[in-house]
Amino acid sequence: MDKSNTNFKDNVNRIKEKKDNIIVCRCEEITKEEIIEAIRKGATSVNAVKRMTRAGMGICQSRSCFPHVAGLISEELKKPIEEIDYITSRPPIEPITIKLLNTYKRKK
Ligand code: FES
Repeated sequence: MDKSNTNFKDNVNRIKEKKDNIIVCRCEEITKEEIIEAIRKGATSVNAVKRMTRAGMGICQSRSCFPHVAGLISEELKKPIEEIDYITSRPPIEPITIKLLNTYKRKK
């Protein structure tokens, strides 16, 4: 995910204008208010917000919510978005089918 990408920046800016009760992480149903609360309690990174709220732990592995969470951290901490670290990715990096996973196991 490239933070200089226009779509990324649009997503970052869009969440700032939304109401506090909007769902930011759809997979885990975490609201903007919950994320801001985590930041105000000391979360200074996307990984810290993830640990405190579960935002980013869902089935999409934060592909959907990362720009929003990063944008909220950027706004709350008054830091440029470029200084907000990426979330730690867990394998598989891309969604894969069980069939493909099964093929991988056979090659070993
Ligand atoms: S939307 Fe947050 S993990 Fe999927």
